[in-house]
Amino acid sequence: MTYLITGGSGFIGSHLIENLLKNGHSVISIDNFDDFYDYRIKINNTLESLGLEKDIAFSEKEKDLNNLISAAESSNFKLYYQDIRDKKGLENIFKSHKIDMIIHLAALAGVRPSIERPLEYEEVNIKGTMHLWELAKDFSIKKIICASSSSVYGNKEKTPFSEIDNVDHPISPYAATKRAVEILGNVYHSLYGIDMIHLRFFTVYGPRQRPDLAIHKFTKLIFENKEIPFYGDGTTARDYTFIDDIIQGIIGSANYLYLNKNVYEIINLGESEVISLDEMVATLEKALDKKAVVKNLPMQPGDVTKTNADIAKAATLTGYKPTTNFQNGIKIFVEWFLRNREQNS
Ligand SMILES: NC(=O)c1ccc[n+]([C@@H]2O[C@H](COP(=O)([O-])OP(=O)(O)OC[C@H]3O[C@@H](n4cnc5c(N)ncnc54)[C@H](O)[C@@H]3O)[C@@H](O)[C@H]2O)c1
Repeated sequence: MTYLITGGSGFIGSHLIENLLKNGHSVISIDNFDDFYDYRIKINNTLESLGLEKDIAFSEKEKDLNNLISAAESSNFKLYYQDIRDKKGLENIFKSHKIDMIIHLAALAGVRPSIERPLEYEEVNIKGTMHLWELAKDFSIKKIICASSSSVYGNKEKTPFSEIDNVDHPISPYAATKRAVEILGNVYHSLYGIDMIHLRFFTVYGPRQRPDLAIHKFTKLIFENKEIPFYGDGTTARDYTFIDDIIQGIIGSANYLYLNKNVYEIINLGESEVISLDEMVATLEKALDKKAVVKNLPMQPGDVTKTNADIAKAATLTGYKPTTNFQNGIKIFVEWFLRNREQNS
């Protein structure tokens, strides 16, 4: 199969590509290497995912990316430095390849920055996504998987969060763009028969995790003996999901999508293990063998107090069964962090 992966140089995308290539598929990857975090981290993600040496001597962005693109190209992999806001550019890619399935991960992620820059989030996450779906319609691509987020559940009292829950009350622009895309997806499914699965990821962590996410940020700060910003009273909690489990869930969903017709589904992918902020910090302290210096701060606008996934639907439809508990996942993450200290500093 030939997969088009958007956001292929990011955290989740690079792991997905690694898995697809190992399993004999062909991959077209699109990424604009945006400045949400350092493009050099994304270059390293890509090299790692392709099993190539991370020996690029960085100079300036355009040049580095050109070097990456030629180093990465093979008979079953091609990388495009392309923004999903540019429909014409995307169209040229669609013209050049026969694509069997799109897995759309490119997005502006992050809750707090979306409050600062809501219109940019709308441009990328909604309009950029619609460009892809318009092209899927025009080029008769009938299978799409799209990254959604647990943040669509907002501040719900009832847990665990189920796909049948009402999600009309997101509390950040980011969450609202993700929900809008789920709804728009149904339009493309019903009008044009495009089969779609929207995967609601619950806080993903593991090697190559985005540097803005709490586990990565805290690990770095604790390691460097710096203060960690500790929002709230420590009881806020997250359903953390290890990257390998997320990849298992995406692949299971892709198989389900491939084998079935007339599909429009929204599926939670979580670990169903709820960890409080206090427990998260204690686990990091243990893995790093260092005490955290805590700076207490009030809760941030847009942050939800708790997430917890009901994963019964994923299990039934796709055979999803997460296998990495939080303690083991953090151990693997911290080992990766320490091995890549220079890159992460
Ligand atoms: N990591 C998580 O915990 C988590 C949780 C819920 C949902 N998600 C969703 O999963 C997806 C992947 O997340 P991630 O953590 O790997 O993030 P990431 O930022 O590491 O990856 C996203 C990639 O998309 C690219 N991108 C951004 N804007 C683009 C544009 N306009 N055109 C082309 N490429 C663009 C970025 O350069 C980046 O490489 C996102 O859609 C995110 O919203 C992630």
